[in-house]
Amino acid sequence: MAKTVVSFTLNGSPVDVLVEPRELLIHTLREKLATTGPHIGCDTSHCGACTVDLDGLSVKACTVLTVQCDGAEMLTIEGFAKAGALHPLQEGFSQEHGLQCGFCTPGMITRAYRLLQENPSPTEADIRFWMAGNLCRCTGYQNIVKSIQYAAAKMRGETVATSHPVLAE
Ligand code: FES
Ligand code: FES
Repeated sequence: MAKTVVSFTLNGSPVDVLVEPRELLIHTLREKLATTGPHIGCDTSHCGACTVDLDGLSVKACTVLTVQCDGAEMLTIEGFAKAGALHPLQEGFSQEHGLQCGFCTPGMITRAYRLLQENPSPTEADIRFWMAGNLCRCTGYQNIVKSIQYAAAKMRGETVATSHPVLAE
């Protein structure tokens, strides 16, 4: 089938990419645009490791065709740190031990970002419900919740203290 050029904004930069109509966004990002933060954990829409932010929606890039993204604004984990400064979510995951192997982390952070855009003060139940489509085989989730709470507080302008004092020294 004929290839087509798709144009969108990726982490603030315009990109044009030649794709087949059947090509999944996760493959375009990883194989053609050197955007390897979004991971492939399952390919069946279960794990959330491939999560990206697309026009203000949190989507699993293994379930989106790249041709659907023409004209879109897209954010991946590569777009979070600005001028060398970590995003509050990245800082939160670091401070609160929200990761172990890190495979799920880009998707976790990108998914949590959309939650905090829509609800700056989520309860623990809100966070657990919102993150239910993102799986982690390492952490047991408790520290992921704490990481998101840390970021939410910081983004609200509150003074935050890590629950792991040794890391704050
Ligand atoms: S690779 Fe997309 S949900 Fe697992
Ligand atoms: S930190 Fe290993 S899968 Fe989540």
